[in-house]
Amino acid sequence: MTAMTACEYVPGLENVPAAESSISFVDGQQGRLEYRGIPIEELAKKSTFIETAYLLIWGQLPTSEQLTAFKTEIRYHRRIKYRIRDMMKCFPETGHPMDSLQTSAAALGLFYSRRTLNDSQYIFEAVVRLLAKIPTMVAAFSLMRQGNDSIQPNDDLDYATNFLYMLTERVPDPIAARLFDVCLILHAEHTMNASTFSAMVTSSTMTDPYAVIASAVGTLAGPLHGGANEEVIEMLDTIGSVENVPAYVDDCMAKKKRIMGFGHRVYKVKDPRATILQNLAEKLFDQMGHDSRYDIALELEKVVEERLGHKGIYANVDFYSGLVYRKMGIPTDLFTPIFAIARVAGWLAHWREQINENRIFRPTQIYQGAHNQPYIPIQERSS
Ligand code: ACO
Repeated sequence: MTAMTACEYVPGLENVPAAESSISFVDGQQGRLEYRGIPIEELAKKSTFIETAYLLIWGQLPTSEQLTAFKTEIRYHRRIKYRIRDMMKCFPETGHPMDSLQTSAAALGLFYSRRTLNDSQYIFEAVVRLLAKIPTMVAAFSLMRQGNDSIQPNDDLDYATNFLYMLTERVPDPIAARLFDVCLILHAEHTMNASTFSAMVTSSTMTDPYAVIASAVGTLAGPLHGGANEEVIEMLDTIGSVENVPAYVDDCMAKKKRIMGFGHRVYKVKDPRATILQNLAEKLFDQMGHDSRYDIALELEKVVEERLGHKGIYANVDFYSGLVYRKMGIPTDLFTPIFAIARVAGWLAHWREQINENRIFRPTQIYQGAHNQPYIPIQERSS
């Protein structure tokens, strides 16, 4: 390998490749997304989240026996240790569910940690445990912060149905559960985004996968990444009516304020996931009744496209996902943890890819500070 000599600082590492990967592909000009070469539209129509997770992590679609075995293992490992539940009961009920998730994901490592990563059985078990237990931990915190006990997973229910059941204490309508499962497929992976990069940097130290997922959850939590879908709902509520939309956009533009749910580092057209989610939202409104926020969202998308489309600012995945989750009665601050439930599949796929061809991440910096400064005694210092 030839060492690079030229050292140009690129803020945000825009367009700087950080890996060679065969997990997913994005064409930001055409609005295309593929997982392992399969278009996202195909997967959203024909696959399930667990099958898609298998595809991402193990590199190919499973046979029917492989899928059954994978699902069985995941079902079996959904429960969390009572000590983790007890730990979660001590979390402040006002804490953000992403902080709870990051802490509990890291705590899993206390129970299952092993730092040698050349054992394929350990890798398989870690994949299964993380996919199985993360939804249980999200649902458990949601109930516990209301002073309730968590609900045990129900082995008769599939992945999405079981999560909604653990969250709401009711078995959901099958259409809502299927739509939720499609949302998980859409959020499962997205090339080199901030949380995946964070997962890969952590993976490259050959630490355990629970630490990898915990670091990625912490990165996903920020409002410029996974946290944007929460802010979209707040923004739609602030706008309040369709008539207020143009003034809201003008005001944001005048104050150079970001309009949440719009813009993307890679997509310069509408995010294909936003298109699929919009269709899902419409299906859900047909089934469960209209949401007036959707009218505001449609107008907002139109106005933003008119005023900012020339800069490549279009709706991203976060714009419509919140509307879908809200209609399902999911609290706003659980939107990002749900994103994390899905993205665990992508993070684990990148973890496997990284440890198979590992070199520790150790970039450089361009030092801009002073040299050979005197050490000034404290009594001589001025502010
Ligand atoms: N609203 C208004 N203007 C925007 C927006 C937006 N949402 N996003 C970008 N722009 C403008 C910027 O002001 C800038 O304009 P300028 O060139 O005149 O200064 C130009 O578009 C380029 O913006 P950058 O900040 O360089 O774009 P970057 O690729 O760094 O940012 C990001 C991408 C963070 C997603 C940004 O678009 C944003 O903040 N969006 C809102 C938050 C959001 O929806 N995040 C979710 C992203 S999807 C995900 O993470 C799952």
